[in-house]
Amino acid sequence: MKDRSKHIEILNLSKSFENSGSELKVLKNISLDVSSGEFIAICGRSGVGKSTLIRMIAGLVKPSSGTVAIDGDLVVNPPNSMGFVTQDYSRSLLPWFSVEKNVALPFKAKNFSKLEKKRKVEEVLEAVGLADFAKFYPWQLSGGMQQRVAIARSLVLDPKLLLLDEPFASVDAQIRLELEDLIANIVLQKKITTIIVTHDIDEAIYLADRVILISDSPASVSKIIQVKLARPRSQTETRSDPKFVKMRTQLYASLRGK
Ligand SMILES: Nc1ncnc2c1ncn2[C@@H]1O[C@H](COP(=O)(O)OP(=O)(O)O)[C@@H](O)[C@H]1O
Ligand SMILES: [Mg+2]
Repeated sequence: MKDRSKHIEILNLSKSFENSGSELKVLKNISLDVSSGEFIAICGRSGVGKSTLIRMIAGLVKPSSGTVAIDGDLVVNPPNSMGFVTQDYSRSLLPWFSVEKNVALPFKAKNFSKLEKKRKVEEVLEAVGLADFAKFYPWQLSGGMQQRVAIARSLVLDPKLLLLDEPFASVDAQIRLELEDLIANIVLQKKITTIIVTHDIDEAIYLADRVILISDSPASVSKIIQVKLARPRSQTETRSDPKFVKMRTQLYASLRGK
């Protein structure tokens, strides 16, 4: 029986890699349910297995054991209804394509009329604040703007699920805050289920409805925090809210194993 009450169901997910004859156990028995429209942050130290986990959810890496289901269907390949943004915008955009062509890439092999594609590309470029840059090339844009192009592209097929792998790690601090708010506003308005992985505890709390901390080696879920902060959130007020500060203290303590 398919269970459609949960948008995403992750069950006993484990992953090991074979490295020149020896086995590296990265993740162990990760289980997590995500409801429709929920914003989840998976947080953990560098190298703990965050990218591996989100790639398994995306159907890009095969689990060693355990399952991921989206709308009750087992994930074996990247699902159509998913957008994915990674850390490295410079590698994810094609330098010889203009902004609008980069954004239209997911339409490839999909049945949309030229007019529909054009409208959709315009709509998502507008949403990320790049309406005037459609004809530019990635190398003519700043890093933050290139990451906006990657975000626009992840939204062009109207995903029900957005997966973000440290999407703001390569942009500077001020731009990072702007992009956090951009993503938060878009997914809230479009009711997109979102999973972000980040090593940044503050970013995780600021964005998410629930923070899942993974730690140890092999990594498993070590703490879950429900983030009951009002939306829309504010970079200045939310981050100085005593509830925010308390959650940050709890998560840091948990990371240090206390
Ligand atoms: N394809 C792979 N083959 C072998 N080892 C890998 C592979 N992908 C990741 N790893 C190893 O798995 C561990 C977790 O990596 P990763 O998921 O990228 O961590 P994070 O994203 O949290 O920094 C690291 O030790 C990394 O070297
Ligand atoms: Mg990573």
